[in-house]
Amino acid sequence: MSDSSFDLIVLGAGPGGYVCALRAAQLGFTVALVDKRGTLGGTCLNVGCIPSKALLHSTEVLTAARDHGKKHGITGDIQVDLGALMKNKDSVVKKLVGGVAQLVKARKIQVFQGTASFSGKNTISVSGEKDAEISGKNIVIATGSKSVELPFLPFDGEKIISSDEGIALAEIPEKMVVVGAGAIGLELGTVWQRLGAQVDVVEFLPKIAPTYDEEVSKLAERILKKQGLTFHKSTKVTGSHEGKNGKIVLEAEGSKGKVEFEADKVLVAVGRIPVTEGLKLEEAGIETDDRGRVKVDKNFATNVDGVYAIGDVIQGPMLAHKAEEEGVALAENLAGKAGHVNYGVIPAVIYTDPEIASVGITAEEAKDQGIEINTGKFPLVANGRALATDATDGVVIVHADAKSDRVVGIQIVARNASELIAAAVAHMEYGGSAEDIARTVHAHPTLSEALKEAALAVDKRALHSM
Ligand code: FAD
Ligand code: NAI
Repeated sequence: MSDSSFDLIVLGAGPGGYVCALRAAQLGFTVALVDKRGTLGGTCLNVGCIPSKALLHSTEVLTAARDHGKKHGITGDIQVDLGALMKNKDSVVKKLVGGVAQLVKARKIQVFQGTASFSGKNTISVSGEKDAEISGKNIVIATGSKSVELPFLPFDGEKIISSDEGIALAEIPEKMVVVGAGAIGLELGTVWQRLGAQVDVVEFLPKIAPTYDEEVSKLAERILKKQGLTFHKSTKVTGSHEGKNGKIVLEAEGSKGKVEFEADKVLVAVGRIPVTEGLKLEEAGIETDDRGRVKVDKNFATNVDGVYAIGDVIQGPMLAHKAEEEGVALAENLAGKAGHVNYGVIPAVIYTDPEIASVGITAEEAKDQGIEINTGKFPLVANGRALATDATDGVVIVHADAKSDRVVGIQIVARNASELIAAAVAHMEYGGSAEDIARTVHAHPTLSEALKEAALAVDKRALHSM
C-alpha cells in the first residue's frame, strides 16, 4: 500500500473523527485524518465544549469569591482580568489539542491539514498547505456542524456574533442579548452575566432549556433569573438596526407586541447545522436529507459503498460524546466487531450552576409515547451535602415505567449534575429499576444521595423528605 492509500480516511478531526481514527488504528487499520483547522479536536476542543467549560469554571471561581465569599470569611475588592481569564482558557485548549496530536502520532495516523473534497467515490483531494490526493478503502465523513445564521440577523463577527466569537471577546460588553435559551445561550449567557454584562435572553418557545422536563425548565429559569439573567420567552426575533453610541438594537415580537433590545453584542445561539459545503458530495453521489445531514443507515453507511458518516453531520443529538461513541462503533463494525450506540441512553448537560442534566425521556415524552410512569423527586434543599456546600438549588427527578419499575428517564438539577448523571446512565444502560437505585449504597454525605432518595420517592418512600 502506498503512502497515499489507506484502509480508512477520516474527514474531520473532531470528537467523532479523531476518536474513530484512534480506534481504527488500534484495530490495525492504516488511517489518514484530514482537517482544515490548524489543530486537531474539532469544534469541541477548539471552540466548543472545552473553552466554554474553562470560561464557566473561571467565572464560577469569581462568583464564589465575589458573591458568596463573605460568609466564608473571604473579603476584599475582587477585580476581573479578562485577558488572564482568556489566556487560561487558551492554555487549556492548547494542552488538550496537543494531547490529541500526540495520541494520533503515537498511533501512526497520518494527518493531512487542508480542506477535503471527494474527487471520486473512494478518493479525496486535500487542498491546504500541501495539496494531496489520497484514496481509502473506507471513508468517514465527520465534518461536524456550525452555528445557524438567522437570515434577518446575519453574523458580522463584531456586534452579531456566534459562539465562536462569544468565547473570545476582548471586552466585557455592558449589554448582551442572547438569542436562544438552549445549551449555548444559557452557558455563554451565564459566563458574560457573571463577568458583569447585563444579559437578556430571548427565546422563541414558551420555556427555556426546552428539551428538559417542563418542571426542570421552570426551576432552571427561576434559579438563573435569581443569578441575574433576564428571560424573554415566546419572543420572536425579527431583525436589528443600528442604535446610538455604537450599540445595536435587536427587534423582536413578544406576546404583548413589538419589543426592542439595545445591546453591545447579540449572541445568536439558535442551534447548529451540518457542515458539508466544499466536500463535493455530489462527485461521489452521496445523499443528504432535507436538513442537510448526510443520510446514513443504522451502521453509519451512506448510500455509497465504503462511505460512512458520524457525529454532528448526521441525525441525532449534536453532542461530543454521541459523536465519539459513533466513531468507536463504526471503527469496530469495519473491523468485523459488533459496534453499537445505545441512543436511548445518551446524557445531556447544560453546565450552568447548578448544572442541568438528563438521560432518557422526559415526563412529556413519556405521555406522548403512551408510557405510564411513576415519578419520584427529591429537592436538594433536603440533602446534607448540598446544605453544607451552598448547593441547595436543585432537584433530582426519576421517571420509572409504572408496570416494570424500569427507569426510563432521570433529570438532575444540581451542582456537578454532569458527574451525578453518570450513575443514572449506568443504571439505565443495564436496564435498572428505580428499586435498584433505591437499594444501592450511596456515600454520605454526597449529592448522589438525592438520586437514591428520588428513586425511593418513586415508591413513595423517600426517607429525608415527605
Ligand atoms: P466537529 O467537532 O464539528 O469537528 C468537525 C471537524 O471537521 C472540524 O474540525 C472542521 O474543521 C472539520 N472539517 C469540516 N469540513 C471539512 C472539510 N471539508 N475538510 C477538512 N476538514 C473539515 N457537546 C457536548 O457534548 N458537551 C459540551 O459541553 C458541548 N459544548 C459546546 C459548546 C459550544 C460553544 C459549541 C459550539 C458546541 C458544544 N458542544 C458540546 C457540541 C460539540 O462541540 C459537538 O457535538 C462535537 O464537536 C461534534 O463532533 P464532530 O466530530 O461531529 O464535529
Ligand atoms: P439548542 O438547540 O440547544 O438551543 C437553541 C434554542 O434556540 C432553543 O431553545 C430554540 O427554541 C431557540 N430558538 C430557535 N430559533 C430561535 C429564534 N429564531 N429566536 C429565538 N430563539 C430561537 O442550540 P444551541 O444552544 O445553539 O447549541 C447547538 C448545539 O450544540 C446543540 O445541539 C447542543 O447540544 C450543542 N451544545 C451542547 C452543549 C452541552 O452539551 N453542554 C453546550 C453547547 C452546545
